[in-house]
Amino acid sequence: MSPDLWSAVDAYIGAAVLGPDPVLDAVLSASTAAGLPQIAVSPPQGALLHLLARVHGGRRVLEIGTLGGYSAIWLARALPADGQLVTIEADPRHAEVASANLAHAGLDVVVDVRVGQALDVLPRIAAEGQGAFDLVFIDADKPSNPDYFAWALRLTRPGSLIVVDNVVRDGAVADASSDDEGVHGSRRVLEMIGAEPTVTGTAVQTVGVKGYDGFAIALVGEAGSGR
Ligand code: SAH
Ligand code: DHB
Ligand code: MG
Repeated sequence: MSPDLWSAVDAYIGAAVLGPDPVLDAVLSASTAAGLPQIAVSPPQGALLHLLARVHGGRRVLEIGTLGGYSAIWLARALPADGQLVTIEADPRHAEVASANLAHAGLDVVVDVRVGQALDVLPRIAAEGQGAFDLVFIDADKPSNPDYFAWALRLTRPGSLIVVDNVVRDGAVADASSDDEGVHGSRRVLEMIGAEPTVTGTAVQTVGVKGYDGFAIALVGEAGSGR
């Protein structure tokens, strides 16, 4: 098994299951043309985020790490007309490209792009008191994952879902002696999910066009409901 095969299968899944999507294709082309790194979630992963948001049925979603707005579009398309996605991006250029992409997708009304370091913006969002988020997608700088997860717990309610991207990183997550801060961030977030008494979660390894990685999903519950 090879990365080429994983990519071929992702392409097949895209053609067989997901179907054509000129809007999302244009988002990726515009992001690449603007020089953004090509690290958005893959189409099958984006569709999974969309399905999680649809199944959940919530109306408020928080994303940390917008890039060009690709995952934001998958998530925002799952929202009802009165729904809202707040997405945080530190790089003003990424945020600008994302805002243009979201407008092109007709989603600029539902998506609020906040520019700034997530750890500066999250307290502001909390202070606005707009209510709990139903789903949080954490996909920014990996060393901060434990801080983002702690904020996600503060900004959610029992029944909310928290998804964390890139927690496996070629298997490096299992290496306790890794000197990669991102690996430590992901290890600590998984340990928080395991230890937090209000949370039930898992992590799933994935292969595909983005290589070998994985994501964590945590369901926020009442005190004592976790395992
Ligand atoms: N969720 C996107 C991909 C995000 S890539 C998608 O799948 O389409 C990670 C993004 O997080 C980058 O755009 C990067 O600029 C941003 N980022 C990195 N550190 C950050 C921070 N401290 N606060 C907010 N955003 C940050
Ligand atoms: C990187 C970040 C991501 O969010 C991702 O999905 C893949 C790669 C990165 O920073 O390299
Ligand atoms: Mg990611």
